[in-house]
Amino acid sequence: MNRRELFKGASALGLAASTPGFVSRAVAATTSPAVAAPVASPRQVLLLNKGWRFFAGDIPFPPIIGHDATYDAAKAGAARGAASPKFDDSAWQPVILPHDFVSFQPIEESGNVDQGYRRRGVAWYRNVLRFEPQDDGKHIELQLDGVATFATVWFNGTLVNRNWSGYNSIYIDLTPYATYGDQLNSLVVRVDADAMEGWWYEGGGLYRDAWIVKRNPVHIKTDGVFAHPVKDEKGWHVPVEVTIYNSGDKTETVRVHTNIGDEKSPAGGRPGVTKQVSVAPLSSTVVNYDIPFANPQLWSVETPHLYQVTTSLRSVTDAVLDQVATHAGFRTQRFDAQKGFFLNDQPVKLKGVCLHQDHAGVGTAVPDGVNDFRLRRLKSLGCNAIRFSHNAQSKELMEACDRHGFLVMAENRNFNASPDYMAQLEWLVRRDRNHPSVFLWSVFNEEPMQGTPAGYQMVRRMSSVVKSLDTTRPVTAAMSGGLFTPLNVSHAVDVVGINYQQGQYDPFHAAHPDKPVFSSEDSSALMTRGAFVTDKKTQVLASYDDEAAGWGETHRDAWKQIDTRDFVAGTFVWTGFDYHGEPKPFNWPSNSSYFGIMDLCGFDKTAVHIHRAQWIKDKPVLGLVPHWNWAGSEGKPIMVMACTNAEEVELFVNGKSAGRQKTDKYDMNRWTVPYAAGRIEARAYNGAKVVSTVINETTGEPVALRLTQDRPALTADGRDAQPVMVEAVDAKGRMVPLANHMITYEISGGAIIGLGNGDPISLEPEKGNRRSLFNGLGQVIVQSIEAQTGTLKLHATAPGLKPADLSIPVKAGPIPRSQLTRS
Ligand code: GAL
Repeated sequence: MNRRELFKGASALGLAASTPGFVSRAVAATTSPAVAAPVASPRQVLLLNKGWRFFAGDIPFPPIIGHDATYDAAKAGAARGAASPKFDDSAWQPVILPHDFVSFQPIEESGNVDQGYRRRGVAWYRNVLRFEPQDDGKHIELQLDGVATFATVWFNGTLVNRNWSGYNSIYIDLTPYATYGDQLNSLVVRVDADAMEGWWYEGGGLYRDAWIVKRNPVHIKTDGVFAHPVKDEKGWHVPVEVTIYNSGDKTETVRVHTNIGDEKSPAGGRPGVTKQVSVAPLSSTVVNYDIPFANPQLWSVETPHLYQVTTSLRSVTDAVLDQVATHAGFRTQRFDAQKGFFLNDQPVKLKGVCLHQDHAGVGTAVPDGVNDFRLRRLKSLGCNAIRFSHNAQSKELMEACDRHGFLVMAENRNFNASPDYMAQLEWLVRRDRNHPSVFLWSVFNEEPMQGTPAGYQMVRRMSSVVKSLDTTRPVTAAMSGGLFTPLNVSHAVDVVGINYQQGQYDPFHAAHPDKPVFSSEDSSALMTRGAFVTDKKTQVLASYDDEAAGWGETHRDAWKQIDTRDFVAGTFVWTGFDYHGEPKPFNWPSNSSYFGIMDLCGFDKTAVHIHRAQWIKDKPVLGLVPHWNWAGSEGKPIMVMACTNAEEVELFVNGKSAGRQKTDKYDMNRWTVPYAAGRIEARAYNGAKVVSTVINETTGEPVALRLTQDRPALTADGRDAQPVMVEAVDAKGRMVPLANHMITYEISGGAIIGLGNGDPISLEPEKGNRRSLFNGLGQVIVQSIEAQTGTLKLHATAPGLKPADLSIPVKAGPIPRSQLTRS
């Protein structure tokens, strides 16, 4: 049977153009955010986020009885039950990706504490795809950017992939099984989120984007361009490696060309390099060449200048067969065992945070607009580095780190040197090695085998996989012990990451003076945002930086240990933001963490002021806590804390000085003063000059709500999203710090995709249109609707308060082109 005849069977399986809900529609020609405009390239990168039907729960496969049925079931194309193309999913729920189904689940005491007490379990997703007759002959690849946790994928009834990690992308060649025109294609994914890979909230389902990529049979492989600039005795140059694959049936001769430009001028105005190669059928050919590049503008954390590397493939008759754009940043890096880290030969103390990938309201399905908000919040701290603990992130987030200028420690999830897991590590390095932000590859976090010969042997092997793909960044591992055993992981890595154990910095450095070290994790300090009285019974921890996990340190102590040692290249504070799950030191009802410098919504805890004072050097900063609403505590002592990078700081209570202090740049400054309603004011001085002033006033009762958007507008692409801040304010428009009103929202011209308030104990759903404020603040995440321009209108009401309205313009903009599916 030839391929055509074989797949005639697919329409007999019931997939026809008349499939209910199938809508054929014109699609706009734009590009994926990950791949720049292929001007004349036949490559199509199509979003596959629509057309999905979802079922929460498992659907057991029907039993197989009798020889014939057993024989038939053992064949390709013969998937049964919910995996079968014939299965009727019309009663399933339509969903649009990204979809973290766990974020919709209630928070229940029977759930797993580290997963935020949300029910996980098995779920199914199904879709129906239409490929046009003109697609026949193309190479068609499915890309699932993240599926939590164990995934099984069937295409037209054939099992095409099993993937055992929720953090790596899945690339599947659909070409052999694809059908065209009215013979529609069935795509089914079963996810098993009972499986867990971590001890934090991991979400579940198709929680990142899905794509269909259609290419010429001779094409540049996915993640097949490696072009990361280097500087050596030859000067700046870009070694380029291009992997070309041929899924056609005869050997092809092609010309590969790369040139380097930037966003404004992708062609670059400089000559590129071309090489002619042959690619045999069903084979890959790797092409290498080198592009000299004089006087580039450098990438740095302050000025993250990016170049665009365009690699194209042409036939010998000059027809464009394929084209890929990647980004590059010109920068050098090195670790010095005595002096720390150097970027572009300048010392850069790493002022980093560890991050998990989730956010309030949306779980792990975090829109790019919300990630952008998070990165800007981190920049405002003076943060210059991120450790993506403990797993790979979305490619869009990695690109955003390039653009914002963060140094990224990219981390592999599973510590395992066996082939399945090595493939995950290899995927991570291949996908992320072009990012100028990536400066370290981490092969593990806190593994019990770290102090053993087995750990050493595993890391050697994993490191060699990394180095076979990229020798420009060192390999590290985040060690929580085992540093001094005779043979341990520190002997197998280039740079040693030390988690906590700050007392070991000096002994380790003395024992290994030539080994660079950094703090891969520290602090684990604990705070509830906006709370200034600890009450462990109600699971509230005051925001004075006095509490840390048993293995951790306060923000102030941790930084002091690092900042006072040049040989410690820097810090990665655990964590930048609170995250769902791991609510240490508590259990139920606490369901999100207390570790963040900011809360789950990205609102400031006192740690924000501490880190600004510690990290920002180029302008005066000053933070002052607590709020000054302590009715009922008149005359009682209240601790006041000011955080500044200035030389001195003075506190005034209702206009009277409570004392001027020399600034303690590590411990910050504190006063204990009797409470009297009115105001506290901190003044920061350099010499005699007041360089900054902050006032906290006693507010009146809340009378109204206020909504504040993050960005001026949204794009009408159905993806763009932003957080809106919600406050209760008094008659003078001041945020009332203890307001906890239940707010109800109405929206038009857009959608609410999540709600949060930063309260680690809240059991309220993060979906829907109602959620309380917590200590005066709430957050609504709003998203545009595809092709619906105009105005997004958000209306917020609370009993007894004047409602608030917000209008966000929704502007026309590029809409990523979608694969045709049922609607
Ligand atoms: C570390 C671990 C992190 C997190 C943290 C909490 O030991 O690496 O993933 O669990 O503790 O303090």
